[in-house]
Amino acid sequence: KTIEYRASCESTQIIAHQLAQTGVPDGTVALAEEQTAGRGRMARKWDSAYGKGVWMSIILRPDVPIQRAPQFTLIAAVAVVRAIEEVTGLRPDIKWPNDILVNGKKCTGILTELQSDADGIQALIIGIGLNANQEPADFSDEVRDIATSLKMESGGHVSRQELVRSILFYLEQYTEIYVKEGFGVLKLMWESYSTTIGRKVRARMAKETLEGIAEGITEDGVLQLRTADGKLHGIYSADIEM
Ligand code: BTN
Repeated sequence: KTIEYRASCESTQIIAHQLAQTGVPDGTVALAEEQTAGRGRMARKWDSAYGKGVWMSIILRPDVPIQRAPQFTLIAAVAVVRAIEEVTGLRPDIKWPNDILVNGKKCTGILTELQSDADGIQALIIGIGLNANQEPADFSDEVRDIATSLKMESGGHVSRQELVRSILFYLEQYTEIYVKEGFGVLKLMWESYSTTIGRKVRARMAKETLEGIAEGITEDGVLQLRTADGKLHGIYSADIEM
């Protein structure tokens, strides 16, 4: 499989979108030392300093209906958690849908974007931003209190090369499991790492904010939130406060 490497770029998401349009195969990766315009969910920016983290976007071409796309974000989150465990010995948690926390602070974000047409998914672009070797001073003021790096949590320098290798290994393994056995086992793995499920949370969405108990996720990765009036709400996209 090909890794398209850049010392610097605006965003590996942009490179991956361009590559996907030229028809590169499933599993092609865009990887950069630095992003000058790294992007996060909900039009936020993503700090991507030179050499400090893993900034990469993976092109997947799964043969599934568009509604299944969110499952791949969850699968990627499990792959990243396993890789962090393997490389550092830390025990990360997942906050729905895609934040990976260590000791309550965010060390990884995942942004999934879609190229689709009437025939379905053409490409899924799974962007992974993993803070590896930052010091507190490397983070911008806005995120310093809520962000962390693997180095800050483990106390030692962490090999980005090992992280990339391990993430890609687990992602390939889990997508194979997905093809053979479906989402069931992977959903269980995701739930076992999740700090969101079973907790009282506040879900901030574009038009409203809902408070309730996060009861679980559906097969499609939709968060099930039970509000005080007993109603069950399906949350597709939100910021979760716990
Ligand atoms: C989030 O938590 O908001 C998602 C952050 C995703 C960041 C990664 S870094 C690699 C890829 N390129 C980008 O511009 N964004 C993603």
